[in-house]
Amino acid sequence: MFTGLLDCSILKRAQDKKLVEFAVHNLRDYTTNKHRRVDDYPFGGEAGMVIQIEPVDNVIAALKLQREYDEVIYTSPDGEVFNQQIANQMSSYENIIILCGHYKGIDYRIREHLITREISIGDYVLTGGELAAAVMADAIVRLLPGAIGDEQSALSDSFQDNLLAPPVYTRPAKYKGWQVPDILLSGHQAKIDEWKLQQAIERTQRLRPDLFEKKD
Ligand code: ADE
Repeated sequence: MFTGLLDCSILKRAQDKKLVEFAVHNLRDYTTNKHRRVDDYPFGGEAGMVIQIEPVDNVIAALKLQREYDEVIYTSPDGEVFNQQIANQMSSYENIIILCGHYKGIDYRIREHLITREISIGDYVLTGGELAAAVMADAIVRLLPGAIGDEQSALSDSFQDNLLAPPVYTRPAKYKGWQVPDILLSGHQAKIDEWKLQQAIERTQRLRPDLFEKKD
């Protein structure tokens, strides 16, 4: 599932252009037991299996021998909620490890000793962290210079500046009697820019007033 998502659209193009490289590692390849088991029963007797520390420690140690990492991230609903500021920050990183969470959890010592940051993509529970990692990868990689066609468009995204994007329209200017706002057809760039800003502010106030309270 995860590699399929990485090989689509912008993520695929960014890899083809050598802007980013992904390496997906299977924990089973870092086990030392005969059956390549990566989980075991929890101490204290709860239901469900827990990912063991050894294969996780092994994979992280093997990767760190090859290069330095800016962050070792664990995807979990307990984490800091991912947003555009975090995507911006991570787009400047050289190397990131993302350890995908597991529905019943991982040995807590991994989180205490090996992880530098825990990230959630929202207040809901996924079955595993793969989709969360793919969401983060998409949001981060599209910010890399050259990843999307129009360099300007990443800067004018919703959430840059904590404002939602203004509406956009294209031809035809009138469809079934539905009209594109006159200002956009006026050719008066300064007035158009002012209208876009007003729209961005109005939409943010109406739809996401919480964004206005963010100062960063
Ligand atoms: N794993 C399970 N649910 C998650 C979430 N909401 N965000 C990140 N990782 C998760």
